[in-house]
Amino acid sequence: MDLGLLYLAKIPHLFLGHSDDGRSIAMLLGICGLISLVIFGVVAGTVVRYTRNYAAKAGDDSTFREAQDEGKIESKFAILFLVLVIALGSYGLTVTWNIDSVTAEKQQQPDLIIVGHQWWWEIRYPGSDAVTANIAHIPTGKRLLVAIESADVVHDWWVSGLGRKMDAVPGRTNYFWIQADQPGVFEGACNEFCGTQHAWMRMEVVAEPEEQFQAWLESQALVAQPAVGDNAKNGSLLFNEMSCATCHSIRGTTSEAGIGPDLTHVASRSKLLAGKITYSKENLKAWLSDPQAVKPGAHMPRFIFSEKELDDLTDYLDGLK
Ligand code: CUA
Repeated sequence: MDLGLLYLAKIPHLFLGHSDDGRSIAMLLGICGLISLVIFGVVAGTVVRYTRNYAAKAGDDSTFREAQDEGKIESKFAILFLVLVIALGSYGLTVTWNIDSVTAEKQQQPDLIIVGHQWWWEIRYPGSDAVTANIAHIPTGKRLLVAIESADVVHDWWVSGLGRKMDAVPGRTNYFWIQADQPGVFEGACNEFCGTQHAWMRMEVVAEPEEQFQAWLESQALVAQPAVGDNAKNGSLLFNEMSCATCHSIRGTTSEAGIGPDLTHVASRSKLLAGKITYSKENLKAWLSDPQAVKPGAHMPRFIFSEKELDDLTDYLDGLK
């Protein structure tokens, strides 16, 4: 994929890097990519040269013997490529090593805990009650340790530019660093095929100055705002009656299940369904009325609501800022 397409696909961070780790990965990618291009050129050029110069002619095997005599070039190539493999291998290992080093002591205090689910990301902040989905906020200029787990199958987190990729493996905790030097919104996608909606398992990292981040974290840690108005109040009752509460948690209410995303501040998110839809009341209502039409395969079943019930439930959730 060329750079123009990467920009169109909104993945401009791959070759740029927005942290020390991000830059060293981008540099590794760039150098290995360039050397690979040179190797491709040399190999392809050699193949073309030999096929043109030494093509067999009927009844004459002199060109074949001539080509054999040039066997020296093979040993030269073998040595050159051995040196390249060792050099690039050591370079790659050094970059990996510098990025990876997480001490056992440090592992006890991750800054973020990310859990991969089919098909969304749960994001927790140790020391805070805040729980969000798919959109992680981080303070700028800090190297943050992420502990990553999975609730079901293997997923893979990667927001290029901020750090390395890391698999989310069931039954195991992996660790990796992320950092953003400057404020910005950085997008990424699940990098390990994990089922029907793998393509819509995107994530976003919102990097903001420390103060702004702390304000966000405090607001997300609060319990849910109570329903205001008759419609929303009816919606909150429906939430429990229609068994939404058996999967979702809304802190400050009796809904405490942790299977689907925490909805305490669902209306404060700019996107829903791991990037599939932007947040709006209309999109939320469309999702509630027929989840399988919006995100086929998603683990939310279709409930049969009347138009009034849909409006009330949407009203209630839309009030959860
Ligand atoms: Cu999760 Cu692919």
